[in-house]
Amino acid sequence: MPEEKKRRKMTLGKLRGMQRRSEPITWLTCYDYPMAQIMDASGIDMVLVGDSGAMTVLGHPTTMPQTLEAQLMLTEAVLRGREYMFVIGDMPYMTYEMSHEKAIENAGKFMAIGCDAIKLEGGARVADTVEAMVKAGLPVMGHIGLTPQSAPALGGYRVQGKTADAAKKLVEDAIALQEAGVWGMLVECVPPETMTLIHEAVDVICMSLGAGPDADGQLVIVHDMIGYFAAFHPKFVRKYVDLTEILDGAFRQYIEDVKSKDFPRPEHCYEMSKEELEKLGIDVE
Ligand code: KIV
Repeated sequence: MPEEKKRRKMTLGKLRGMQRRSEPITWLTCYDYPMAQIMDASGIDMVLVGDSGAMTVLGHPTTMPQTLEAQLMLTEAVLRGREYMFVIGDMPYMTYEMSHEKAIENAGKFMAIGCDAIKLEGGARVADTVEAMVKAGLPVMGHIGLTPQSAPALGGYRVQGKTADAAKKLVEDAIALQEAGVWGMLVECVPPETMTLIHEAVDVICMSLGAGPDADGQLVIVHDMIGYFAAFHPKFVRKYVDLTEILDGAFRQYIEDVKSKDFPRPEHCYEMSKEELEKLGIDVE
C-alpha cells in the first residue's frame, strides 16, 4: 500500500515548485484564530491577513483606517492557528510610503511575529521601496491592478487595465516589481486578457483576484466566498456557503428557544450529588 505523504509546512520553494508544475496555488484571506485552524486543516496553501480586515472584521468603510497595531494583532491571531499554511502579512496604508527605513522597520515587525512574507500595494511607484526591502532580506510580494489603498486616486473601486494603454502600464508595473525583487505579485480586478499579458511578461508567481484563470493561483476574500459580509458581493466570487443566512437562522432559533423556555434543558445543566442535595433539603426522588 503506498504510504500517505506527510504534509509539511508550505514554503516559498514549494510554491515555486507548484508554479513550475502548473499546479494552481490556493489562497484565501484570513483574520482570526479559529478560521486559521479550519483553513489550515482544509489544505489551503496560503493565507493573506489582509488589511481588508479593517472592513470585514472591524467594520470600517475602507482599508485606509487600518493601523499597524491592529494589523499585527489580527496577524498574530492567524499565526497562532496555522501549522502548514504560508502566511502573508499585509502592510497597511502609509506604513511603507514614508521612507525605505520605515518600510523595512514595519515589514520586519510582520516577519518577527512569524509571517512567511509581506505584501504591499503599488507598481513602479513603489519599486524603489521594494528594492530596499528585498536588499534588507525581506520576502516581498507586490499587488497591482485595483489597489484598495489608492482607490480614491484610481477613481474608486473600479476594474483596472481595461484599455490597451492601461494594460500596457500594468505590464510595466509588473516588470518594475519583478526587477525590484518581488517573489510574486497579486493582480486584482483586471480583465483576463490583461492578466495574461502580465503573466507572460514576468516569471515570478502571479496570483489572480478577480483577474481570471490565467495565473499561478487564485485568491478570494474569505468573507465573500462564505457569505459573511453583507455590504457587497463582488461579481468574481463564487459563494460556497451563505453564513449570513445560516447564522441568522441560528440566532432567531436561539431567541425563540430562550423566550419559550425550551432552552436550557436538563442535559445543558451541571449536576449536584444526591448527598449534597439532601444537605440542602432538596428532595431527590
Ligand atoms: O487586504 C486584502 O485582503 C487585500 C486584498 C484586496 C487582496 O489586499
